[in-house]
Amino acid sequence: MTDTQAIKDRLDIVQIIGEYLQLKKAGANWKANCPFHQEKTPSFMVHPEKQIFHCFGCGKGGDVFTFVQEMEGFDFPEALKFLADRAGVKIDTYRSEIDKSQRNRILEINNKAAYFFHHFLLEMPGAQKARDYLTERKLKPETIEEWQVGFVPDQWDLLTQYLLKKGFGIDDLVLAGLTIKREGASLYSGKGFYDRFRGRIMFPIWDAHDNVVGFTGRILVETEHSGGKYVNTPQTLVYDKSRVLYGINKAKQEIKAKDLAVLVEGQMDVIACHQAGMKNVFAVSGTALTAEQIKLIKRYTNNAAFAFDVDAAGQNAAKRGIDAAIEQGLNTKIVQLPEGAGKDADECIKANSQIWFKAVEQAKDVMQWLFEKNLAGVDIVDPKQKQRAGHNLLIEISRLPYALERDHWLKVLAERLRVDEEVLREEMKSAAKDAAKEDRRGGSPPIDKKRDGEGSVNTLVVQTRYDLLLQNLWALLLKYPSLISAFWSSLKEDYFSGTGFGLLYDLAKKRYNTGSVSPEDLRADFGNQEQNFIDVLLLKADTIYGDYKESESAKEIELILAELNKSWVKNKREQLMEKLKEAQKNGDLGEVKDILYKIIELNE
Ligand code: UTP
Ligand code: MN
Repeated sequence: MTDTQAIKDRLDIVQIIGEYLQLKKAGANWKANCPFHQEKTPSFMVHPEKQIFHCFGCGKGGDVFTFVQEMEGFDFPEALKFLADRAGVKIDTYRSEIDKSQRNRILEINNKAAYFFHHFLLEMPGAQKARDYLTERKLKPETIEEWQVGFVPDQWDLLTQYLLKKGFGIDDLVLAGLTIKREGASLYSGKGFYDRFRGRIMFPIWDAHDNVVGFTGRILVETEHSGGKYVNTPQTLVYDKSRVLYGINKAKQEIKAKDLAVLVEGQMDVIACHQAGMKNVFAVSGTALTAEQIKLIKRYTNNAAFAFDVDAAGQNAAKRGIDAAIEQGLNTKIVQLPEGAGKDADECIKANSQIWFKAVEQAKDVMQWLFEKNLAGVDIVDPKQKQRAGHNLLIEISRLPYALERDHWLKVLAERLRVDEEVLREEMKSAAKDAAKEDRRGGSPPIDKKRDGEGSVNTLVVQTRYDLLLQNLWALLLKYPSLISAFWSSLKEDYFSGTGFGLLYDLAKKRYNTGSVSPEDLRADFGNQEQNFIDVLLLKADTIYGDYKESESAKEIELILAELNKSWVKNKREQLMEKLKEAQKNGDLGEVKDILYKIIELNE
């Protein structure tokens, strides 16, 4: 028996996934909001009997290994190790010992460094200034303890020497990002190396599982020579700034409980919020909020309130983060601090924590906020001003992934600008192109790079509304196979050819022509082609159409077919128009006539 099978036999996919998502029972299966793409109604399903999961929204699917790979960002060997530990199964090591232990060594080094910084702060005479500074910033001793805040004095290699004495190798210290090698220094002398962090208040940065993955250090006294106000760990084996959410390990429970994540800008803001009793708070430090980070947030909630310094000049990073959040369908609100209440959460809380709590409570929907920002002071009688403000807002509206929401804001905009909705719809096409251009220009990073793990099922991907219609149609047809015969004449081959459903249609046609069609037969016909194709569709039927009787299913099929036909006709017409142009260019009159007839037939 293979390792993976042994592990699978001992683990229950429902239990493992249940630790990450709120699963709800759906017939024999379980469903949840998909953690891999934005959605409001659950299309992520877990099948306990087959021990697989599948999302009908984004097409991600597979087994428990695929799941933890996606969720934890593991590669396969890491997932194997993780699940083997859970299952109590001993495995032959897949990944080289060296590589694995390197990661662990860096984590251990980080841990020791955090300990060193923290104890230096608490105990060393040389840290008096730092302690005074933190007192002045109103950090309580228990807060300093909880967040393991530390200090490192302004010396060249204090930490490096300490860690070398502890027995760590200099090359590992460099890999951890704590030690910097001077140009031309020898790797073995221990000389020619110096600390990255010097003369700074130190904040350990944890991942969601309480591992210290890196640090950020705030300069104690700012001088001309002190370098950046904050210095951060560089990219290492364990630190990737585009995935860091400072404070997530201490905030995740409360984020789930409150179903809201509050994002602030800096370490001190996070700590001040937690100290004041608001614990669903974390920060992305020093970067634009990335698509990766939004994905991480969506493991815990779909609602976020951003307390960024969004109005200040040069806040492109904040704007990009907001755009990315809108595009991923995160329900986003903007926290605005009233005039004079301080420039960030930390200052506001220090002055009056009530104002901060209230500001979060009254956070504005991001679209509403964008409307106010873009329409403030705009004279809508002036066509130029009207055009500019309208276009900017259309760019934002076009980012929304949900048609109903887009429609809503389009109507609001039409009213505010007193223009015809149709005009806006027209203009939105060019706005959408500008939005994409903005995103390409170092804007929001690409969303959801696909990483295929072992055993994933990727045929059933929904990329367009058309895909969705096809899926729902076949889910219903397989649920009530008698409807396949009933609707056969309406199931045009053309709807399916060239889509992921071409094969299913062909197989169904063969069966139909020789008698009747059943899911069991089709499953057998599929053979090894796509093991789970039929089951995944049945799973979908179960989950979204679980309580549909046959007559209701028939009605739903009629609606789906009507829409399917409409979009198919539209597509077909566009194709024919292209051909027509081509034929006209070539002066092929016979062909022109043929195509014209076909176009006319389409309308019948
Ligand atoms: P701020 O300059 O607003 O600092 O940068 P702050 O958080 O208010 O810090 P205090 O209150 O002055 O101590 C916001 C965040 O941007 C990142 C840090 O994470 C910081 O908390 N940053 C800032 C850097 O990474 N590097 C810098 O040089 C400056
Ligand atoms: Mn601050």
